[in-house]
Amino acid sequence: MHTKLCDRLGIEFPIFAFTHCRDVVAAVSNAGGFGVLGAVGFSPEQLEVECKWIDEHVGDKPYGVDLVIPQKYEGMGELDPKKLEEQLVKMIPLQHREFAAKLLADHGVPELPADQKHHSLLGWTAATATPQLDVALNHPKVKLIANALGTPPQDVIDRVHASGRLIAALCGRVHQAVRHKQAGIDIVIAQGTEGGGHTGDIGSMVLWPQIIEAVAPTPVLAAGGIGRGSQIAAALAMGAEGVWTGSLWLTVEEADAEPAQIDSYLHATSEDTVRSRSWTGKPCRMLKNDWTVAWESEGAPKPLGMPLQGMVTMEAIARTSRYAGAGHTQQVAFNPVGQVVGMMKDVRSCREVILELAQEYVDSVERLQAMQE
Ligand SMILES: Cc1cc2nc3c(=O)[nH]c(=O)nc-3n(C[C@H](O)[C@H](O)[C@H](O)COP(=O)(O)O)c2cc1C
Repeated sequence: MHTKLCDRLGIEFPIFAFTHCRDVVAAVSNAGGFGVLGAVGFSPEQLEVECKWIDEHVGDKPYGVDLVIPQKYEGMGELDPKKLEEQLVKMIPLQHREFAAKLLADHGVPELPADQKHHSLLGWTAATATPQLDVALNHPKVKLIANALGTPPQDVIDRVHASGRLIAALCGRVHQAVRHKQAGIDIVIAQGTEGGGHTGDIGSMVLWPQIIEAVAPTPVLAAGGIGRGSQIAAALAMGAEGVWTGSLWLTVEEADAEPAQIDSYLHATSEDTVRSRSWTGKPCRMLKNDWTVAWESEGAPKPLGMPLQGMVTMEAIARTSRYAGAGHTQQVAFNPVGQVVGMMKDVRSCREVILELAQEYVDSVERLQAMQE
């Protein structure tokens, strides 16, 4: 499974693990893979705390940080996070806030304590992601910066390169991959529609080889639907230099999630996900529930664009994750995950997952070799 990328990054297996949980980042990197911390939900101050913790728990292993700077969003051009938030708050119709509040109340989701303030603008703008990049670049063990939802601005690419690091970017269409390459991205992450979180509509099996061909010799990581080593063998056979995974890490021992949410994932099948704009404003794959159905129903307000819809739902995310097991919370909770959820049936450690993927990969390669004898 050793590819050129393994040497460039100093890792044993080209298995990249996207997660919002620092324990998972450290455990995956310690097991020979490459953990990547999703920064989107962290303030710059909190991101500093997370990176410092990872630095202390990852020995001399490398890890990555993932930002979200979309290609297009409301308020683009305003680079002061405070001003941007003030400007955006005024654009949110009351109807959207009331619709979300009623869904939570109808499902018995408790209110947050009065002193638990949450900021409403997440890191999914250039204004909010730039301070996160500043933090990430201060941590020498961060060897890779990734960006979701678009080609990052040129100054971000230049800063990452000037710091001696690699920059990667996700995409779900061939023309987006070509745009990444033209902008100087080092690693293209091709994510098929099966993937969890924001995702396009082309399946992995069809997308990966097209992107690999279109951006060659730029290395491509195959993403979307990977849950077995045999799929890694398939991706590498197509010419990918590794795999980028996300959903798999939601149910590992090290994951910092409420038991009720983990239960929802463990009991779901591959038919239980949907792409919905109801949480963030862009199509995002998640578990289907009353929330996703309600936003699609007749008379429901149309989800706003990014980051406005996320500002509408910020409180709902905070309440449904904090009180995941209360009332009928799971019916209105934000549970992003890919179709591979149907293959996630037990809770294991990150090391066990990595070693099993590696073993299944070897078995698959041997199966193919036996066919040639
Ligand atoms: C819960 C969850 C949150 C995600 N958030 C982000 C994100 O903030 N940034 C990002 O680049 N990708 C994000 N993704 C997508 C992953 O990076 C990855 O591409 C995807 O999970 C791969 O497909 P898989 O879920 O089938 O493994 C998220 C995925 C999940 C499951």
